[in-house]
Amino acid sequence: MSGFVLAIDQGTTSTRAILFDDQMKVAGSGQKEFTQHYPASGWVEHDPEEIWASVVATVKAALKAAGRAASDVAAIGITNQRETVVIWDRATGKPIHNAIVWQDRRTAPLCQKLKKQGLEKTFTKKTGLLLDPYFSGTKIAWMLDKVKGARKRAEKGELLAGTIDSFLIWRLTGGKVHATDATNASRTLVYNIAENAWDDELLAILNIPAKMLPEVKDCADDYGNTEKNLFGAEIRILGVAGDQHAATIGQACFEPGMMKSTYGTGCFALLNTGADLVRSKNRLLTTIAYRLNGKTTYALEGSIFIAGAAVQWLRDGIKVIGKAEQSGKLAAEADPTQNVYLVPAFVGLGAPHWDAEARGAIFGLTRNSGPAEFARAALEAVAYQTRDLLDAMRKDWKEASAKTVLRVDGGMVASDWTMQRLADILDAPVDRPTILETTALGAAWLAGSKAGVWPKAREFAKSWALERRFLPDMDSAVRSAKLAGWRDAVRRTLSTQ
Ligand code: G3P
Repeated sequence: MSGFVLAIDQGTTSTRAILFDDQMKVAGSGQKEFTQHYPASGWVEHDPEEIWASVVATVKAALKAAGRAASDVAAIGITNQRETVVIWDRATGKPIHNAIVWQDRRTAPLCQKLKKQGLEKTFTKKTGLLLDPYFSGTKIAWMLDKVKGARKRAEKGELLAGTIDSFLIWRLTGGKVHATDATNASRTLVYNIAENAWDDELLAILNIPAKMLPEVKDCADDYGNTEKNLFGAEIRILGVAGDQHAATIGQACFEPGMMKSTYGTGCFALLNTGADLVRSKNRLLTTIAYRLNGKTTYALEGSIFIAGAAVQWLRDGIKVIGKAEQSGKLAAEADPTQNVYLVPAFVGLGAPHWDAEARGAIFGLTRNSGPAEFARAALEAVAYQTRDLLDAMRKDWKEASAKTVLRVDGGMVASDWTMQRLADILDAPVDRPTILETTALGAAWLAGSKAGVWPKAREFAKSWALERRFLPDMDSAVRSAKLAGWRDAVRRTLSTQ
């Protein structure tokens, strides 16, 4: 059997398909952006049909770019934006509403109501999550409440729900398989991560009929075959993981204590805690890192909503740079005597503050402050926020020792200046690997290893290669002063100050 494995990476702003060869190298790829819908303030939706079309188109483009046919592909691995949910008609496959995206804040009032009823503890204990609109459960409840007749139809078994992976599996298999994997399930707010099962009590609280939910499988498992007429031959779907979990795998963070951080639109740091389900006392999330051969590996996760999006803001919002790549160079020119801080709470703050009402702020401006100081403040904000996560992780789990090394990936890590500043602020080494396609690689590895054409975990981990290690190089008094300034800026930004 060939060693070609196809990864479908269905992200928040674009869909990518990457065909890897038997050496785990990229043989061809396709990418397509799709429309973001903002029907009301704080609402974010995607059209599932547009997402589906982008998946079919990018798979075809990747095969074409590599000069390969579907019959050459041993398996498909799917990875996806997490938490975003779709509800569709079992008979027709048609969605009953646009997908509600992870960034969408419309269920903040419902979360507030549940909190007032004293239910956050119950949700956190069972799911490892918090009552924040970020997660899928309240979004499903919203659709069942607002779309006419939806709850009745769901109770009758006419409607199915799922995260994006689940919707794609349903479509790819021609409606034969309704499944998801444990990592995606762990982001829904209705999945018990200790018992590895949908939780009846939480489903009852949110009034979600259990029968509309997918079967939950291991990350490397049999998810059925793609329909022959889609790509010209059936392809087995053998791997599924949420994108941050796939990146953890792609970064070969298989050992407890290993940590990765992905700098895309937002930043998501996952620390592998092994079989230990660590309950955070510092407002981090507990999540399923991956589940392989029925064995669950847990992680502590810190989720920051704005990272690369701050660079986009420099480019498209205040227009101080023409291209994202210029941000590091401009930041390097900033006046070292100015202490300008940007708290990028553009859509509220995620971990460890979870303040949906906070909004962005900038502090410390002088008459000399200009584009360079803004650029440095935006990039440093990413480093400070990562430091806040690391501090919380260390408090939560004593094994997250001072020796932690951060493996990084995502668009922002191309900037040497940013990575050096990250190491300086973290006071920890930052490792940038040679392969930056870690999310797609992780999904492909799940499928390729399950198909038996790619190596097992230990061998795969050996193939991880360092491109450059950034070591801390900042005077500790300077670091402390900068961190104190950042904490003060955050304090002044919080809505509950
Ligand atoms: O939790 C949301 C995350 O999975 C989104 O990732 O890369 O699609 O922005 P990304």
